[in-house]
Amino acid sequence: MIPSIKTAVLFSVALAASLSSAQGDAALVGTWSTKSRKVITGPGFYDPVNDKFIEPDLAGISYSFTSDGYYESAYYRAISNPTTPHCPSAIMQWQHGTYTLPGNGSLVLTPIGVDGRQLTSSPCSSDTGVYVRYEQAELMKSYEVVTDGFHNVKRLNLFKFDGSPMQPMYLVATPPQMLPTQTLNPTSAASPTGKRRVKRTDGGDGDHEQEPLQPLKQNAFTTRLANKDSFNPDHWWWAGVGLTALGTVMYMMPTSV
Ligand SMILES: *[C@@H]1O[C@H](CO)[C@@H](O)[C@H](O)[C@H]1NC(C)=O
Repeated sequence: MIPSIKTAVLFSVALAASLSSAQGDAALVGTWSTKSRKVITGPGFYDPVNDKFIEPDLAGISYSFTSDGYYESAYYRAISNPTTPHCPSAIMQWQHGTYTLPGNGSLVLTPIGVDGRQLTSSPCSSDTGVYVRYEQAELMKSYEVVTDGFHNVKRLNLFKFDGSPMQPMYLVATPPQMLPTQTLNPTSAASPTGKRRVKRTDGGDGDHEQEPLQPLKQNAFTTRLANKDSFNPDHWWWAGVGLTALGTVMYMMPTSV
């Protein structure tokens, strides 16, 4: 029987995880992006010099991995709110750090806590985006790199801590497109220069101010959200996702040494 040409024939080219070393897996190396390919890690997504996000044209997710154990991730997603369907909130997240392969098929991502960033903007409930430091370790229960036989392009399937699949990502760059892998810690240079504007391109109504990053204090995440939008269910939904994601989610406060 000849398989339909439309059938994506998937060859698993790499599932093996190194048993002993913290070195990377050659199959992971590169920059991966979801279907739209508009979200790509690196300087086109996060500008560490000016400490600000560059908003992509479309939502998506991107991960990059090096051969020597570094990773970078970029998320840009709309969050629809049933009460204001015409006016979705948007969230951008950026992290980088190291990854390890503990040898059981899992992929463990450990971010550099001081460097992660998150911007949440709710165009209808506020003119100002909420810009905070962000740190969330991630456990991918398993991963696989396959060749999508139909599109003839390498595809990365990541399975979250609970085994549920993430959106598939496709290889868009080798070597990976990443910011420097060491600690950037741009906060020290992030003297507030006044409010910055972020242009929304998703049909939202115009510009939104991006606040200068404030160092997070204890409970800053919930406190800031509570102060801003106590009753915005989006925020609590995301907070819930964050808190249940790993059991080890940490919105860590930078301790000023
Ligand atoms: C693999 O090992 C890591 C680290 O010990 C652990 O967190 C993870 O849950 C393990 N994965 C599986 C699938 O058991």
